[in-house]
Amino acid sequence: MTAFDNLQNIIQNRRSVKPALMNGKKINSALIRQLLGLADWAPTHGHTEPWRFIVYEDRAIQRFCFDHAELYKTHTVAEKISTAKYEKLLHMGDSLSHIILVYMKRTENNSIPVLEEIAAVAAAVENILLGAASLDIAVLWSTGGMIHHPAMKLYLALSDSDIVMGSLFLGYTDEPVKEGKRNIPLTDKVIWK
Ligand SMILES: Cc1cc2nc3c(=O)[nH]c(=O)nc-3n(C[C@H](O)[C@H](O)[C@H](O)COP(=O)(O)O)c2cc1C
Repeated sequence: MTAFDNLQNIIQNRRSVKPALMNGKKINSALIRQLLGLADWAPTHGHTEPWRFIVYEDRAIQRFCFDHAELYKTHTVAEKISTAKYEKLLHMGDSLSHIILVYMKRTENNSIPVLEEIAAVAAAVENILLGAASLDIAVLWSTGGMIHHPAMKLYLALSDSDIVMGSLFLGYTDEPVKEGKRNIPLTDKVIWK
């Protein structure tokens, strides 16, 4: 198998796995460190390296999920609070192994457009997703709950100009790899000149 074949296999067989489908088995922290090491090699315009990660493991996971659910309750108007959503956020961590909160750190006096800093962090996330796929680690990149709410930034003590990019839920699953699907043919996405 060539390096391209290997890479293609990992890319094409990577699938998102929801936390509810994870089996509670723990990932060795050394593997999490290796995945973060891959993230750190994402391309970066002007070498700003804007990706930042907060890793939650063990008891910190339950704490984060509780705080996330409480943020939802506090910042949602009473009539709109859904108990099901509160419970979902509260129990999100029950069968996963680690949560990696990802954000974009905007460096001061930075002339690189924000769009490009976001792009660099997204590339870093993809490195994690692909590394995880190569290790049979299940991941979901999630922007659900309060991730994009200003209250989340405050909770994480981020600057106004930083951007929360999502949480990565990592674990193992016993489920078979899902069929992949693409709705738009590649030929409709490409123009050759
Ligand atoms: C920026 C971003 C945010 C996402 N947020 C969520 C989310 O909040 N909840 C969720 O179930 N999936 C989320 N996903 C995962 C997508 O649903 C998933 O990638 C898509 O269904 C394609 O499936 P695949 O990753 O297995 O190819 C997100 C993906 C991206 C790129």
